[in-house]
Amino acid sequence: MRHPVLTALGLGAAAGVGALAWAHLETSMYTLREVSVPVLPPGQPDLRILHISDLHLTPSQEGKIAWVRSLADLQPDLVVDTGDNMAHVDVLPSLEFALAPLLELPGAFVMGSNDYFAPSFKNPARYLQADARIGRSVEPTPLPADKLAATMTAAGWKDLTNRRDTVVADGRRISLVGVDDPHLDRDEFPAPVPASGATSDLRLGVTHAPYTRVLDQMHEDGSDVILAGHTHGGQLCLPFYGALVTNCDVDRGRAKGLHGWPGARPDAAGGEDSTWMHVCAGLGTSPYAPVRFACRPEATLLTLTAR
Ligand SMILES: [Fe+2]
Repeated sequence: MRHPVLTALGLGAAAGVGALAWAHLETSMYTLREVSVPVLPPGQPDLRILHISDLHLTPSQEGKIAWVRSLADLQPDLVVDTGDNMAHVDVLPSLEFALAPLLELPGAFVMGSNDYFAPSFKNPARYLQADARIGRSVEPTPLPADKLAATMTAAGWKDLTNRRDTVVADGRRISLVGVDDPHLDRDEFPAPVPASGATSDLRLGVTHAPYTRVLDQMHEDGSDVILAGHTHGGQLCLPFYGALVTNCDVDRGRAKGLHGWPGARPDAAGGEDSTWMHVCAGLGTSPYAPVRFACRPEATLLTLTAR
């Protein structure tokens, strides 16, 4: 008869293999999350924003490419891409094909570290560090971020790399402010604009990584909604506990989804002085860590409604 300890070890190993297999499978369970944000001035009709992030695309990911293309069927009023689009040096043509239907809509973007540099193998234990930049040593391979930005701006999308801009979506004038990737310390918050008399229906702040210094700046700058990616929602989550890490200095509780910044949601008691913040858990992973657990890859359709 088998020793009970061996039986327990065998069961544990089987469970581990099963969890790993599931976590790999989950990376292709693309999910559209829908969120309502009561932020518009009273009387305004709804405004729909599609938030995509962290595609980490490789040329062979045909399922992801088709799913991203299909998002255009939603016909959002505005598309916001919060970066980390690429995970392969030759992926730009595939990425442009994936985004092509969305590029026909009004849009805006910022870049993430995985638009500038190709992914590389990292010690998996680093995942549990609060800031996974620690210990980086190998010279990274550049990615064609400039060409991607040129494609997006040629389509009319607004480049928010340490810039302000405006976009008209569904007849509404939206003021935009964005920063380059704070995870690479490239963020330089744009100077305030002198009052011009032009009014906006909405003010959006856009950043790849939701570092608290940038969230504070956007809050002080008067953003109505802040959009960010980067966290992958924690990527490996525990049921009933959530994200273990955020890979930046925002707290685990705000690793994904709709929240307030700096405090409670603006629609909650005591949240009057807070800005809405949406963190997208993103659609991909590094090719060297192709696992997600209890954290499906997602894009989010935000329906902005009147307060
Ligand atoms: Fe990412």
